[in-house]
Amino acid sequence: MSLEEIIKNTIIQKSEPIGFDEFMDLALYYPAKGYYSAGAQKFGEQGDFVTAPETSDLFGYCLARQCAQILNSKNDILEFGAGSGVLASQILFELGRLDKLPNKYYILEVSAELKHRQKEIINKVLPELMDRVVWLDTLPRNFSGVVIANEVLDAMPAKRLIKKKNHFVELGVGCKDGQLVWQPFQRPYVSQKALLPKDAATGYVTEVNARAMAWVNSLFETMNQGLVLLVDYGMGRDEYFHPQRGEGTLRCYYQHKASDDPFVHVGQQDITTSVNFSDVADQAKNSGFTIAGYATQAMFLISLGIDEYLSVETDESKRIGLAQQIKQLVLPSAMGESFKVLALSKNRQVKLNGFKEQDLTHKL
Ligand SMILES: C[S@@+](CC[C@H](N)C(=O)[O-])C[C@H]1O[C@@H](n2cnc3c(N)ncnc32)[C@H](O)[C@@H]1O
Repeated sequence: MSLEEIIKNTIIQKSEPIGFDEFMDLALYYPAKGYYSAGAQKFGEQGDFVTAPETSDLFGYCLARQCAQILNSKNDILEFGAGSGVLASQILFELGRLDKLPNKYYILEVSAELKHRQKEIINKVLPELMDRVVWLDTLPRNFSGVVIANEVLDAMPAKRLIKKKNHFVELGVGCKDGQLVWQPFQRPYVSQKALLPKDAATGYVTEVNARAMAWVNSLFETMNQGLVLLVDYGMGRDEYFHPQRGEGTLRCYYQHKASDDPFVHVGQQDITTSVNFSDVADQAKNSGFTIAGYATQAMFLISLGIDEYLSVETDESKRIGLAQQIKQLVLPSAMGESFKVLALSKNRQVKLNGFKEQDLTHKL
């Protein structure tokens, strides 16, 4: 049975629409059939989208520099949603060069297929470091070190809401005449944590990511001390709820084409929502974290000296290649400004090098 049929049957059996978060969960993570659980190539030129570590090794090298500032030999790294495994390889490679390797590099990945792919790539690139890399199924206890999540929050199932006259309701997913359709719930949506725009016009659509907030809280519980680096596309609350963003932030990616229709290519296309970094930061503070910095990806990478990698490259054709990659990572028209870095710290007070040139924490 196709994943689309499975989802339709789930809705029919419930005799009511399912929340969009439940739909997104099934579409992305249903065992063996969801987008991230099934075997197709997702990342890179051959896939559906290109992430920063797939764009350039320099992305991982800069993250490694930030890790090196605070890691000691007893600390670990924990990467969530490690994708193809390329970011882990870049970070480990650069930390090796800086003589700052972590005790263990843990990976927590929900997709069995991606875990397999990650093992293959890390073993191919850095076989000598394989014994430091450990795949986990649950959060480690008493973690000390650096937690990294690049483009993970945006892949967590979010709720979609629509403004009725006086309140928001969930925009659920129903099944009508054999087709998946948007279907608003009747009851008002009561938000536990997220703030919603008060003056939104009737019909205004937005998303809230309660699961991402629960995840941030669970990170705090699991950590003894250290740093969390969250990199993703998103923005602060003012921009997230801008009146002109009335269609929300939901995006689907299929073979490098973006659309806003999650009901086509079910299980074969990526579904994402942008991150409301103000919500994440509020949750983090409520849990007990300190906000250690917030900047655009461009300024974070520049603060960490991404251009130094260019200046030490002597091979002219490699320099041209690196310059192109840096442009892709830092130009506002590419990934530079739409992607942000939010750093959270627990029991660790340090002025992070990644926010030397810019810290927009006051904008959250
Ligand atoms: C858009 S991909 C990003 C992959 C990779 N970080 C990169 O930058 O190339 C999202 C990844 O997050 C994973 N993921 C989503 N929710 C997760 C969770 N709660 N815990 C761990 N991984 C998760 C997905 O399986 C997938 O590997």
